[in-house]
Amino acid sequence: MPAFTASAPGKIILFGEHAVVYGQPAIAVPVHDVQARAIVQPRPGGEGIRLIASDISMKQALADLPLDDAIALAVRLTQEAIGVKELPACTLVVSSTIPLAAGLGSGAAVSVAIIRALAGFLGHPLPDETVNQLAFEVEKIHHGTPSGIDNTVVTFGRPVYFVKDQPIEILEIPISFTLVIGDTGVSSPTVETVTYVREAFQAQPDLYQSYFDLCGKLAWNARQQLNRRRNTSLGPLMNDNHDVLVRMGVSSPELDTLVAAAREAGALGAKLSGGGRGGNMVALVEPDRAEEIALALTDAGAANTIITTVGRP
Ligand code: MEV
Repeated sequence: MPAFTASAPGKIILFGEHAVVYGQPAIAVPVHDVQARAIVQPRPGGEGIRLIASDISMKQALADLPLDDAIALAVRLTQEAIGVKELPACTLVVSSTIPLAAGLGSGAAVSVAIIRALAGFLGHPLPDETVNQLAFEVEKIHHGTPSGIDNTVVTFGRPVYFVKDQPIEILEIPISFTLVIGDTGVSSPTVETVTYVREAFQAQPDLYQSYFDLCGKLAWNARQQLNRRRNTSLGPLMNDNHDVLVRMGVSSPELDTLVAAAREAGALGAKLSGGGRGGNMVALVEPDRAEEIALALTDAGAANTIITTVGRP
């Protein structure tokens, strides 16, 4: 069996995080500039799967991982989907340039890369729909009650207009646009913010439902603007979405500082992205201002910035 390699991009949510868990539409796009990668190599004379994930200092037999470990689960689900009882001895090498717990879909991307690499190694490449379903099961470990948006955009590697439990809608972007992503450097596991929002919703259902409805309307409106090739109109909608997320209680001083810095430096709009309370924010920018705005974010304390184009061929 030859070695098999697979990769998956990161993602950024442009509209509708959190509200998407409650059935509202959301828009997310892949970020191909960062990637997770998995390689499965045969290990002649060995036994079982040896896992090497240097980014998280992991080098051990897969069998020694707890059953609810995300990597172990991704492997087990792939094995079950293919119907292979015993896996041949192999080494699984996982690496990623996607920051962890930062709203860029690192968990989903690692799962998708592992599922594809293992299925390919076993000679049973799986269709994207199956990869997506398996990655969704693993997402439950990362997010508790995931909407499925992260695994979907990462699996298909295309912009999506996503509504939970609805058929996947790939979003065509007729005219490309540029984003600057700024990392607060503050790690914020999504499961914590998703749990916080659920508790807040239970405590104040009417108020939080009104927030979710607002976010859904903004996502819907953004899709109309994209269809009409009015990309710059997304900026004010992103600002509005950030304001709702602030009211929902999922922003943080670091996120607000970066969002303000991007706007002051000339971004068309900016918002936190993903679970919030840390992780990344995203700004829509004119392409020729991208470097300048990325610098402004660094000056305002961003640990890292990414300039990416959405809608390129
Ligand atoms: C996380 O990237 C997005 C959230 O809406 C959670 C989810 O949709 O599963 C916060």
